[in-house]
Amino acid sequence: MGITTQIRTKSIKSPLNYIGGKYKLLEQILPLFPKEINHFVDLFAGGCNVGINVNAEKIIFNDNLTYLIELFQTFHSKELEAVITHIENRILKYDLSLTNEEGYKKIREFYNENKNPLDLFVLIAYSFNHQIRFNNSHKFNNPFGKNRSSFNKTMKLNLERFIVQLKTKNIQFSNVSFENYDYSFLSKNDFVYCDPPYLITTGSYNDGKRGFKGWNEKEEFDLLRILNELNSKSVNFALSNVIEHKGKSNDILINWVNKNPDFNVNYLNKNYSNSNYQTKNRDKNGSVEVLITNYKTSIPMQTTLFNF
Ligand SMILES: C[S@@+](CC[C@H](N)C(=O)[O-])C[C@H]1O[C@@H](n2cnc3c(N)ncnc32)[C@H](O)[C@@H]1O
Repeated sequence: MGITTQIRTKSIKSPLNYIGGKYKLLEQILPLFPKEINHFVDLFAGGCNVGINVNAEKIIFNDNLTYLIELFQTFHSKELEAVITHIENRILKYDLSLTNEEGYKKIREFYNENKNPLDLFVLIAYSFNHQIRFNNSHKFNNPFGKNRSSFNKTMKLNLERFIVQLKTKNIQFSNVSFENYDYSFLSKNDFVYCDPPYLITTGSYNDGKRGFKGWNEKEEFDLLRILNELNSKSVNFALSNVIEHKGKSNDILINWVNKNPDFNVNYLNKNYSNSNYQTKNRDKNGSVEVLITNYKTSIPMQTTLFNF
């Protein structure tokens, strides 16, 4: 089967193994999206797992992590072969492997001086948990993923499929914080998908310690206000989040849903069983994962209001 055929039959997985990435939930999320979409805005694009698998006239990937967006722009504009050759040449030059920490540190230093986006990808491939972390001076500072991380066959295949798919779509990139995004061009058939950092969980991207803004109650309120504004302009949106996690609940989100009875809470299930929220929807971390929409979905997994 050629690479183009494979792409049509299976969802594309981000080559970045992005923390908080929605690849595993795609089967549940995508059927909940509107069927016809003009502009699709992936407002917190991260690894781009969602937008890359969506059919729309135009897909806009936004994330405030500038270096990440630059990397996707490079994947989009360069030939696939040139990207792979660049990566493999770097691996050879720095003798990168599962054990060569010195080589990893050298290419990290080189990246921090030159900021070539494809070198960031090489670093991510060999870094601990494939995490993207910068310090306040915007120096990449994630440690080496000794014996665990490398540019292996799976990552290479994911990268190739991702780049091929990227080139088949009408894509635009943007790298602003969501409050500064210009929503004014959006109208009825457009769609905004939001997968922000979760207020009640911790990811390296919401601690505010990597030279980029963190995620706190202010950001949560600002985003919910923007979603209300979109709703009043009849722009559809979907918001991924968790309403409960390890005994904590996101009361800001729960109150917002209760104040907006026209919104729908679609409960997602990592175990794919068709249970309802009250019984089995918590996963092993006690997480209740939801997709909140301002339109009715055709799947009977939703409720309009929840009380605790
Ligand atoms: C949960 S991840 C998104 C994962 C993505 N949906 C995927 O499946 O690969 C959240 C993303 O939001 C970004 N982010 C955090 N604060 C932001 C802000 N204020 N504006 C825009 N993006 C932000 C982070 O850099 C991170 O990439």
